[in-house]
Amino acid sequence: MAGDWVDGDVSLGVALSERGRFPSGEAKPTASTPEIAQRRDSPLGDFLRASEFNQKIELQLLENQQHGEATCSGECYQGRLRNDMKAAVIYRYGSPEVLQIAEVEQPQLKSDQLLVKVHASSINPIDWKMRKGMLKLLTGSKFPMILGFDVSGEVVKVGAQVLDFKPGDTIYAHLNQPGAYAEYAAVSRKVAAPKPVSMSHEQAAAVPLAAMTALQALRDEGQLEAGQTVLINGASGGVGTFAIQIAKVLGASEITGVCSSKNGELVKSLGADRVIDYAQQDFTQDGTKYDIVFDVVGNRSLSECKSVLPPKGVYVTTQPYPANFLQSFLTTLLPGQKYKVILLKSNRADLLYLKGQIEAGKIRSVVDRTYPLAEITEAHTYSETERAVGKIVIAIAR
Ligand SMILES: NC(=O)c1ccc[n+]([C@@H]2O[C@H](COP(=O)([O-])OP(=O)(O)OC[C@H]3O[C@@H](n4cnc5c(N)ncnc54)[C@H](OP(=O)(O)O)[C@@H]3O)[C@@H](O)[C@H]2O)c1
Repeated sequence: MAGDWVDGDVSLGVALSERGRFPSGEAKPTASTPEIAQRRDSPLGDFLRASEFNQKIELQLLENQQHGEATCSGECYQGRLRNDMKAAVIYRYGSPEVLQIAEVEQPQLKSDQLLVKVHASSINPIDWKMRKGMLKLLTGSKFPMILGFDVSGEVVKVGAQVLDFKPGDTIYAHLNQPGAYAEYAAVSRKVAAPKPVSMSHEQAAAVPLAAMTALQALRDEGQLEAGQTVLINGASGGVGTFAIQIAKVLGASEITGVCSSKNGELVKSLGADRVIDYAQQDFTQDGTKYDIVFDVVGNRSLSECKSVLPPKGVYVTTQPYPANFLQSFLTTLLPGQKYKVILLKSNRADLLYLKGQIEAGKIRSVVDRTYPLAEITEAHTYSETERAVGKIVIAIAR
């Protein structure tokens, strides 16, 4: 497993604010309701900014109270039945089997949100990391919890302050708090954009988290300029398949993808000029220089990559471990090669940019498998193999 932190500071805020956000209705599991109480002895050292995020939890709870929203804990759900929508819900951390299809209340809308009928969502590794409790210092112990960040669907209702979307619009979004594995999701207008017209909901749901991560890693952290060379380690996964295409769009002169041999042709078809089979060759020993190494898998280090980076080269990792932030900070103080950690920031501008590139035919989704919501357990099990080729999609409404 490549890493066990969180996929972005927005996602962190998400996880935290979930404690104050969960709808006030009760969840009625289709199977037995497991224990709700959870231990709070999360592994130490995983989260450099945990205290800051805990403060965010409290601020979010306070904010929700001021807006008159529910701030109840999981126990509040007991004894109340409001079966407004189906969702994949967890009542405790654990294996994929803790995911249950339940009837829950639709989310309450804030004035700047859209209520979206979710046609499709997709799985990202952060989803199963949250499900396993690997992020419980951040996600807390309040259940039930709906996971999932990617949404493609149709707006059915808008909050009073929303002027830029209307019922009937089709949108795609990366939620700033989890809740996408459901028939309806509340989506902040700031993180939603019109769905690319050339994509189905299933294809569009594959885009937000993975493609925005790739874009922000290469454009913002890597500062990729036209004419530079890029290596993508983990080129055949959810983030990697978008990273190859985005590097091309941003004008990289030569793109090298690192993947297993079975995925080499796919990675070339996405725009890689060169493919390295990691089972046959260690790219850090190759001697070839790359202006940017984007380590999507996160299994290498700056010290291993020093010899393949030029003096001003940049190594970008997806793994936000405290030690990685520290190393990133230290390289800002010194001349020479830089170490960067990507933390996804959800926003509409990047979704609009991606929509433009998708509609221009320059970026596409690679969808490995599509599961119905009822098979969410199987979908998580597959994602956890870390062998998916592109994205795993969840089809919800038809
Ligand atoms: N910090 C952030 O904001 C952020 C955002 C998004 C994702 N992430 C993190 O980034 C990581 C990747 O996410 P993802 O969505 O791309 O995951 P993914 O779709 O599950 O990645 C699966 C891919 O990884 C490849 N892979 C596995 N081991 C490899 C190796 N040793 N060398 C090269 N490729 C290898 C597999 O290719 P083969 O089968 O060919 O080996 C497979 O295609 C996860 O840890 C995720 O949590 C972080």
